[in-house]
Amino acid sequence: MDRSIKVLRLGQRYVRDDRTLTHLCLVSRALGAESIYLEDAEKDVIATLDGVNKTWGGDFKAFLGVPWRRVIQDAKKEGRSVVHLTMYGTPIQDAAPQLRGLDKILIVVGGPKVPGRVYHEADFNVAVTSQPHSEVAALAIALHEVQSGEELKRTFQKSRLRILPSARGKRVVEN
Ligand SMILES: C[S@@+](CC[C@H](N)C(=O)[O-])C[C@H]1O[C@@H](n2cnc3c(N)ncnc32)[C@H](O)[C@@H]1O
Repeated sequence: MDRSIKVLRLGQRYVRDDRTLTHLCLVSRALGAESIYLEDAEKDVIATLDGVNKTWGGDFKAFLGVPWRRVIQDAKKEGRSVVHLTMYGTPIQDAAPQLRGLDKILIVVGGPKVPGRVYHEADFNVAVTSQPHSEVAALAIALHEVQSGEELKRTFQKSRLRILPSARGKRVVEN
């Protein structure tokens, strides 16, 4: 299936967490999403991502400063299903068969505080275990489950460098 996945990370910066935001971007890019919306982040995050795109390929995009309500409204307008990751939700192993049938998805992950409305706006509230952990881990597992592991075989176009996978050492070629 030709699937389109976007990611939304909720939250303002009560504490500086640009490293977490960068990891959310990198995980989204590597594991098959096409873009991420960050409500609030330093521009450095975007610069890091641009550098990664140039070196390793693809055209993953990050958007800063769009309010979450707008991102969810726009997603719904274009027929995108909203999948909110929360430890209080339906276990992902139960939701996965239905999620795999969706061709346009917005995956929403929380930050330090998640507004109650998000639980109601979401089409699916999905848990990656019913234990608290990390938005980066939850996102990675959700992307993997939704795409049944197909994302692992993906290649990135127009890269400057390409890794030749090897059992030992590092092999990298210039394109
Ligand atoms: C560190 S948690 C903080 C949650 C926040 N205290 C709240 O009010 O819900 C940040 C985000 O990680 C994700 N997350 C953490 N544990 C999860 C789990 N077991 N299943 C799904 N998502 C999870 C959720 O998206 C959550 O909003």
